[in-house]
Amino acid sequence: MSAKKLCSAKIFILAIGLALGWTAMPQPVSAQSSDSGTEEAVTPFVLPKVGPFHPEDIEIKNSKAITDWYRSAHADAASEAFRHWDADEEIRPVCAVCHSGEGFRAFHGLDGNAPGIPAEPVSVGGVVDCGTCHNAGLSEVKEVTFPSGLRHPVEGVEAACMTCHQGRTAGVTVEEAIAGKPEDTADPDLRFINPHYATAAASWLGGYGGSGYQYPGKDYSGRFFHARPVSTCNSCHEPHTLEVSLEPCQTCHQTDSLQAIRIARQSYDGSGDVAKGIRSDIEANTVTLMELVRRYADEVAQTPMVYDGGMYPYFFADANRDGRTDEADGKPVAYASWTPRLLRAAYNWKLVTADGGAFAHNPYYALELLYDSIADIAGPLGVDVPGLKILR
Ligand code: HEC
Ligand code: HEC
Ligand code: HEC
Ligand code: HEC
Ligand code: HEC
Repeated sequence: MSAKKLCSAKIFILAIGLALGWTAMPQPVSAQSSDSGTEEAVTPFVLPKVGPFHPEDIEIKNSKAITDWYRSAHADAASEAFRHWDADEEIRPVCAVCHSGEGFRAFHGLDGNAPGIPAEPVSVGGVVDCGTCHNAGLSEVKEVTFPSGLRHPVEGVEAACMTCHQGRTAGVTVEEAIAGKPEDTADPDLRFINPHYATAAASWLGGYGGSGYQYPGKDYSGRFFHARPVSTCNSCHEPHTLEVSLEPCQTCHQTDSLQAIRIARQSYDGSGDVAKGIRSDIEANTVTLMELVRRYADEVAQTPMVYDGGMYPYFFADANRDGRTDEADGKPVAYASWTPRLLRAAYNWKLVTADGGAFAHNPYYALELLYDSIADIAGPLGVDVPGLKILR
């Protein structure tokens, strides 16, 4: 089906949904119901009794919420995050937990069945629908388990955000894969470990969440507590548009854009520029780390590497050093010369870059992971780390 067709199908479903009183969902369970201001009841949409009538005369309850949501990524039925399974015509249970409202409800037992990974595949075509977050049962979900094994207490709708935006791996996944293997020897059994995407909740919990590969003997910043008014997902993100508005930030930060926010007086990336946003320091250090990862792949693992962010598994072989992915039988050759040192650095790089909001979710944890990865991989290359002037 084309994206356009899918889109009109969606409008149609939305119309049916409205007619069926789809909007009569229970009020959202708010993490801080005291300041949510959403306590008034939501009335179902009822068709006027007599016609003819003019569309403008029909009051559609919740129309703002619906329009806002409809334009957001959560409702984007044409995106890869919801269409990846089209060819299979059903979503694998383990994937459906985060890739469809139906799978999510099954996982938390909100569909009447026992909680857990859905027993059956889930049909394609679902998005992060209203009933994902507006579900009375969600208030019964008291903790969310992270890939590190951490069971984090949650309250209200944050149970939803934390379930889907936690990524799929943790530092321990990497630790287990590389355990007992010599640091700098390419091992054909090693494969790239992908932390998955939009891992905001994992960033946010920092070292306490354990999403990054944490180098032995190092301390890591825990959860980013930030400041009281901005301490939950929905205190920064409007839950339907998903956008973050700058205005509330400006009560504490003197800034004209989210990306320019900075408090740190030191330069983490060695540029000496402390006028730019902390986001730029993080980004600069990801660039430095990627350069070293590729140099190490070439000089130590002895297979040059290219990175292609648009194609899984992202890291590919480039034996002839032409800067392009090697192909065999018309297929790209995934990088297969991982050493433990290379894998953990590439993993941390991908984790930090998988969260475009890492600078706001937990800038310190991101900077620590980048610094430690740079310092570790620089060793066998003989790169002088103090000379880079980066800070942890
Ligand atoms: C813990 C929740 C979670 C699970 C489980 C999960 N995903 Fe995802 N996945 C996400 C989120 C969140 C995104 C959205 C990233 C974005 O595009 O902003 C995503 C995005 C994707 C994308 C789009 C990536 C892109 O480049 O746009 C693909 C493909 C994908 N997931 C495949 C899978 C597959 C296959 C499985 C099962 C084996 C799976 N996911 C399981 C949360 C999850
Ligand atoms: C990703 C989670 C999420 C999804 C999906 C979602 N909502 Fe909400 N919604 C919330 C949260 C959280 C609040 C509470 C906002 C607050 O406390 O300020 C809310 C509030 C509301 C409100 C109260 C008034 C308002 O606009 O803030 C209505 C009405 C509403 N949602 C309807 C809907 C409808 C209809 C849909 C589907 C089209 C939907 N929501 C989808 C999370 C969600
Ligand atoms: C059922 C799983 C699920 C739940 C629950 C969920 N999300 Fe998402 N979220 C996703 C997926 C999947 C995407 C990517 C959708 C796409 O690519 O179109 C996404 C996208 C986003 C984006 C936009 C990312 C981008 O690339 O533009 C933000 C911001 C976001 N979610 C925040 C939240 C917040 C805040 C909550 C809790 C109120 C929440 N999400 C709850 C699965 C979920
Ligand atoms: C302090 C405010 C703040 C809090 C708290 C916060 N976010 Fe964000 N988030 C941001 C900012 C700022 C961005 C980047 C937006 C931009 O660049 O336009 C962002 C981006 C995102 C993105 C998109 C990332 C991408 O790759 O584009 C997702 C998804 C997301 N946040 C989810 C969450 C979830 C889930 C939570 C709760 C665990 C959360 N956020 C808590 C401020 C916040
Ligand atoms: C009530 C005051 C307050 C509000 C509102 C606030 N912040 Fe902050 N912010 C702080 C404080 C205090 C710190 C330092 C926290 C720390 O070091 O633990 C900080 C640190 C940060 C940092 C790290 C900066 C650095 O250089 O280390 C970022 C990024 C950030 N805030 C983003 C945001 C965004 C985005 C918003 C709006 C959605 C926001 N803040 C709203 C008080 C606030």
